[in-house]
Amino acid sequence: MALFGPAKSKRIKAAKAVSGSIQLPGDKSISHRYAMLGAIAEGLSEIHFFSSSADCQSTLACLSKLGVNIKRKDNVVSVEGLGLHGLRPPREILDAGNSGSTMRMLAGILAGQAFRSVLSGDASLSRRPMQRIIDPLTRMGARIRSSEGARPPLEIEGGALQPIRYELPVASAQVKSAVLLAGLYGAGETEVVEQIPTRDHTEIALEQMGVEIGRHSRTISVRGPARLEGKTTHIPGDISSAAFFFAAALLVPESNLVIQNVGLNPTRTTVLDVLASMGGEIRVLNVEMLHGELIGDVRVGSSRLEGGEIPPGLIARLIDELPVLAVVGTQTDKGLSFRGAGELRVKESDRLASVAENLRRMDAEVEELPDGLRVAGRQTLRGAEIDSYGDHRIAMALAVGGLVAQGTTVIRGSDCVDVSFPGFFEELARVTD
Ligand code: S3P
Repeated sequence: MALFGPAKSKRIKAAKAVSGSIQLPGDKSISHRYAMLGAIAEGLSEIHFFSSSADCQSTLACLSKLGVNIKRKDNVVSVEGLGLHGLRPPREILDAGNSGSTMRMLAGILAGQAFRSVLSGDASLSRRPMQRIIDPLTRMGARIRSSEGARPPLEIEGGALQPIRYELPVASAQVKSAVLLAGLYGAGETEVVEQIPTRDHTEIALEQMGVEIGRHSRTISVRGPARLEGKTTHIPGDISSAAFFFAAALLVPESNLVIQNVGLNPTRTTVLDVLASMGGEIRVLNVEMLHGELIGDVRVGSSRLEGGEIPPGLIARLIDELPVLAVVGTQTDKGLSFRGAGELRVKESDRLASVAENLRRMDAEVEELPDGLRVAGRQTLRGAEIDSYGDHRIAMALAVGGLVAQGTTVIRGSDCVDVSFPGFFEELARVTD
């Protein structure tokens, strides 16, 4: 993504139908994990359908600077593992770009290295909170310096780590993963306790690479020092990217869309449950287990949606899908509301504010709450100029709004979609009439 130069924009018009079939890029969350774990495994890891996202490219670039030999051919990434203690001191700053997952999870690995490294990010990432990883990693023995307010860049002096038992103060898979990855280096059992279960791709990937993971009620544990074996794996399509297409097909009349090979890990499918419970016509087909992750096809047809309130207990498992659900809410019978989503304020943008502001530009009635949104139902959206705020999920969520709005919607700063889904607008145009 260009850092300088004129921001690009895309024009979206009202659609008649969203139909055909589509295959999404490989899951971003899972791709990050296999790249990082492959780097500290013994032997070669071959990752098929590796995410095409700029975020995962940031992870690969950081790992290269740590001495890891990585080859990429189309969507296959080969990582030559250096073993648990084989990473080399980087000569440059490790740039995580826009990617919170890269910074937070890699920090867990760097905490266990006997060298100093610096992790930085772009303007958006430099505003995001890092205390949540600094606390547990410091307790384990790493020394971490940050900018004011525990913001990036992070300077990490790693070394011998001691295991801890850590109760997560925020429901965050990134924080859970950072502690588990550091736990691979600890001398003994590291335990993470989560009040609300979050995505478990780290646990699954570790198991796939031969590491024993304890899962007892809400406690997840790993024993260090661990030994990881390189692995050939296939990454499922990214359900968080698929969510924009679920929404488009549900809202646009005469739609019938098949999204192929979508990751259906139960910690990620709450978006499907919520849409189906509101009356969405959704069929899940051809489900199979692939390298510990469920995968299948999802058929979605235009539907009348009831709307309602999303219970706070579901929020952590829906966190990336809430912007597009808010857009969907404007077209439901009762409208849509949710609370308990204060975390959205510290994502790539303040997503509660970004969604509210942009929906208002489209003439929608939206109430912005401290930790949620309340969107009225049965609204007529009008084409408007949308500010992506440089946030990929905002650009894509409002593009879906544009498909059901009167007139033309212009998405400013549209190239930010590359962060998770390069080619999003082209794919959307391909399945839209
Ligand atoms: C992710 C976890 C979530 C999510 C992010 C990816 C992951 O972040 O929003 O897009 O891959 O673990 P938090 O852990 O901050 O909730």
